[in-house]
Amino acid sequence: MAVGVFDSGLGGLTVLDKVAARLPEVPFVYLGDSANAPYGVRDADDVYTLTCASVERLWDAGCDLVILACNTASAAALRRMQESWVPRDKRVLGVFVPLIEALTERQWGDNSPPREVAVKTVALFATPATVRSRAFQRELAFRAIGVDVEAQACGGVVDAIEEGDMILAEALVRSHVDALKRKMPEPDAAILGCTHYPLMQEVFQDALGPNVSVYSQANLVAESLADYLGRHPDMLGPGKDSLFLTTGDPKRVSDRATQFLRRRIAFDKA
Ligand code: DGL
Repeated sequence: MAVGVFDSGLGGLTVLDKVAARLPEVPFVYLGDSANAPYGVRDADDVYTLTCASVERLWDAGCDLVILACNTASAAALRRMQESWVPRDKRVLGVFVPLIEALTERQWGDNSPPREVAVKTVALFATPATVRSRAFQRELAFRAIGVDVEAQACGGVVDAIEEGDMILAEALVRSHVDALKRKMPEPDAAILGCTHYPLMQEVFQDALGPNVSVYSQANLVAESLADYLGRHPDMLGPGKDSLFLTTGDPKRVSDRATQFLRRRIAFDKA
């Protein structure tokens, strides 16, 4: 009855942690494509090909449902996968929609027409590929009207986090927040639109100031997945064991993951 969780590298662990706490009886198979990270600087075709390969690996591990715990893959590849690639008996879900439903005060799966919402100005921090896709603005426009979105592509932050260089990551986050504030001085809300960024959430909040509500996805995705599995229990696949898989060097990736989550995590080769 396993569920797959995919990210380009370590960032999706922020999502895994919350979904595993919310659904303790469900085994999760995590796959990080560290050998090919970061995805955020790749073009959409590349992200699509790499994401499909990893999702197939998770199907082989007994996961009929895979969560793309990666905004870049959700933004640049998910729609194409759902339209022309995912077989009928499998599901692939992304991390954008739960976040936008929370921002626009909707119940999960409420498909009523777009309406005015409390939030008027939103800062989006994401990878260059996610910003370029405009997927966030597209999904938002289905649900809300009159919301002004300013997007900041945060080049370099994912590489610094994957390398474990948190001093560089902090400096980059502060400079990206400064750049955003020059375009939108007082956003109502900020979206951490990359699963690596919750590892820097305190720095984002500090740089943005106390009046900005910072939304990160992990808890929202956990609630949305619990709701989805309640409605679709048949989507729990045949896999029985929780596993951590990486396309990178298992020892190196395990050490970094242990450092981030502050508990021992042991990756195997995918
Ligand atoms: N953590 C991923 C995301 O949510 C991708 C980061 C990357 O590989 O560039 O966008």
